[in-house]
Amino acid sequence: MKVLTLLLALGGVFLAGGALAEATGDRAAGKELAGKCRTCHGLEGKARIPIAPHIGGEPVDYIIHQLTAFRDGRRVHEMMSIVASSLTDQQILDLAAWYSGHQVSVDLTADPANAPEACVACHGAEGLAKIPDAPNLAGESNIYIDTQLKAFRTGKRVHEIMSPIAQDLTDTDIRSIADWYSEVSIGIEMQEN
Ligand code: HEC
Ligand code: HEC
Repeated sequence: MKVLTLLLALGGVFLAGGALAEATGDRAAGKELAGKCRTCHGLEGKARIPIAPHIGGEPVDYIIHQLTAFRDGRRVHEMMSIVASSLTDQQILDLAAWYSGHQVSVDLTADPANAPEACVACHGAEGLAKIPDAPNLAGESNIYIDTQLKAFRTGKRVHEIMSPIAQDLTDTDIRSIADWYSEVSIGIEMQEN
C-alpha cells in the first residue's frame, strides 16, 4: 500500500514535470521578453559578455530548469537572480521557447578523439548536449566553464550528476576541459518561427 502510494505520488510528479515541459511557450512573447536579456545574451542567445553563457539553441527543458532555479534561489548569481526574480512560469516557458528555437552550428577543428572522455556521453565531443536536461558547452568562455565546474565542486551550485563529477576534477583538469570546449567555434542563427 505504501509502495503504491509512493508510486502514485511519483507518477504525479513526473506528469507535472512533463506537463510543464510540454506546456506551450509563446515564442513571440518570449522574443518581447528577451529585450531584457539581450545586453548579455543577445536576442539569438549568443553571449555578449565573457561571464555569460550562450543560451540560443539550448534544450528547452534545460532553459526552463535554470530560469526556475535562479528565480527560486536554487541557483544564485548576482545578475541572474535579479533578472529571474520577477518571471512568472508562463514567461519562463515563453523565454525558453524563444531561446531554444535558434539554430546552433559548431566547428570542431581539433581531433574528437582527444575530447574529455568523462564528458562526451552527455555534452558531446563538440559540446552539443546529448541529453535533454544537459546544456551545450560549445564555445562557452573559459571563465564561464571554469566558474561553473568550481561552483559544482564547492557546492555553490548543486546537481545530482554534475556535483560528484566535479568533485573528481583538479584545477588542471578544469583548465584543460574549459580550453577544449571554449575552442570550439559556435554560430547561432536566429530563427523567427
Ligand atoms: C546583466 C547580464 C544578464 C542579463 C540581463 C541576463 N543574463 Fe542570463 N546570465 C548572465 C550571467 C552572467 C549568467 C551566468 C550565471 C552563473 O555564472 O551562474 C547567466 C546565465 C543564464 C542562464 C543559464 C544558462 C546555462 O547555460 O546554465 C540562462 C538560462 C539565462 N541566463 C537566461 C537569461 C534570460 C532569459 C534573461 C532575460 C530575461 C537573462 N538571462 C538576462 C547574465 C545576464
Ligand atoms: C551523465 C551526464 C553528464 C556527464 C557525464 C557530464 N555532465 Fe555536465 N551536465 C550534465 C547535466 C544534466 C547538467 C545540467 C546541470 C544543472 O541542471 O544544473 C550539466 C551541466 C554542466 C555544466 C554547466 C554548464 C552551464 O551551461 O551552466 C558544465 C560546465 C558541465 N556540465 C561540464 C561537464 C564536464 C566538464 C564533464 C566531464 C568531466 C561533464 N559535464 C560530464 C550532465 C552531464
